[in-house]
Amino acid sequence: MNIWVIIGTRPEAIKMAPVIKSLQNEGVDVTVCLTGQHRELLDQVIRAFSLPVHYDLNIMSPGQKLEDITTRVITNLCNFFSNEKIDAVLVHGDTTTTLASAISAYYYKIPIGHVEAGLRTYDKYRPFPEEINRRLVDAIGDFLYAPTQRAKENLLSEHIEEEKILVTGNTGIDALLFIAEMQYNFEEEELETIGKKHRLIVVTAHRRENFGKPMDEIFMAVAELVSRNKDIEVLIPIHPNPNVLASAEKYLINRERIHLSSPLEYIPFVHILKKSYMILTDSGGIQEEAPSLGKPVLVLRDVTERPEAIEAGTAILVGPHYDRILETAQRLLDDSTFYKSMANKINPYGDGKSAPRIAKHLIERLKVKTRSKE
Ligand code: UD1
Ligand code: UDP
Repeated sequence: MNIWVIIGTRPEAIKMAPVIKSLQNEGVDVTVCLTGQHRELLDQVIRAFSLPVHYDLNIMSPGQKLEDITTRVITNLCNFFSNEKIDAVLVHGDTTTTLASAISAYYYKIPIGHVEAGLRTYDKYRPFPEEINRRLVDAIGDFLYAPTQRAKENLLSEHIEEEKILVTGNTGIDALLFIAEMQYNFEEEELETIGKKHRLIVVTAHRRENFGKPMDEIFMAVAELVSRNKDIEVLIPIHPNPNVLASAEKYLINRERIHLSSPLEYIPFVHILKKSYMILTDSGGIQEEAPSLGKPVLVLRDVTERPEAIEAGTAILVGPHYDRILETAQRLLDDSTFYKSMANKINPYGDGKSAPRIAKHLIERLKVKTRSKE
């Protein structure tokens, strides 16, 4: 069986690493193709999980536009797809790599598996362009791996055939639980000592719709929170998208108890999350990880495709709004009953066994397909 797994960004690599391993455990010869939409962030994860890399399109350019990524990925992949016999292409999530890879596979009539299918806000610009990327991929996908029952219901409501869908849990939780259970000693002194004297708040922001004023409000609120509370410190790994640094530089440079850092490697990052008091983020993956670690999370967005943690009471949508961020974070610092009500260790997004379910299902379906052709 010739199954291609295509990944372009950090979260795709983290969430596909368990799938690649599970396929290999089932004896499949997986071909891993990087688009290189991300460079440093992607390479960090490849190293952390010792993933094999067979092809690397290496397309990233500084300040790349969506159309740059899309056209480069399609042109490169179609070259391969026109020459190779491939049984299935697996893509993940909702990035531009995901959409461009799925379209390329579709052009060559290669079956498409979509891991993390069915997430929706039904708001076409939030998140942008991810909401439309994932809808289009689900429309052309053949095997749709929905992380939750809610995601499956979204697909059914769009009249997608039920036999294409399997509820698996999110493979990001497979990766998280594996890493979080490891004994780990920080190599960097700063990461080792952080959170020992003060309560630690981890902040990340990178969504395109938050660039500019919304991100300014987020970072202003963080600066104000730190100056009001002498017993907290904040760690902000800055996403390499230049728009993030542009806002962070305005409000967060050279301030006591505010640590700006480069993006952390995945393994230390998970262990930093473990010792945090709470998390403020607009990241999709971190919204899923926080409840599994029992950490309250304030979601820096107005809408989310991940409502499960909000319904379970471990996450609150505060948007990129100065007043709401400040007020809710302050309440979590002051009100221990409120804090405890949110700091529940629950796994609404997966039980850590999602990847083997996907591998078994995909192999079985491809065997049936082959048999029906014979
Ligand atoms: C992308 C995804 C987003 C995902 C995020 C995960 C799209 C449209 N967006 O957003 O869905 O949540 O990744 O992090 O697919 N850069 C580097 N080195 C890196 C990565 C990025 O320098 O390793 C810089 C480059 O200047 C690059 C810019 O960041 O041009 C933007 O990268 P891009 O992949 O276009 O968008 P992200 O904001 O990272
Ligand atoms: N992450 C990481 N280092 C960091 C910040 C995040 O390893 O400094 C991990 C995080 O644990 C999660 C993933 O990156 O698994 C989320 O990626 P990101 O927020 O970039 O993208 P999204 O999930 O929003 O698409």
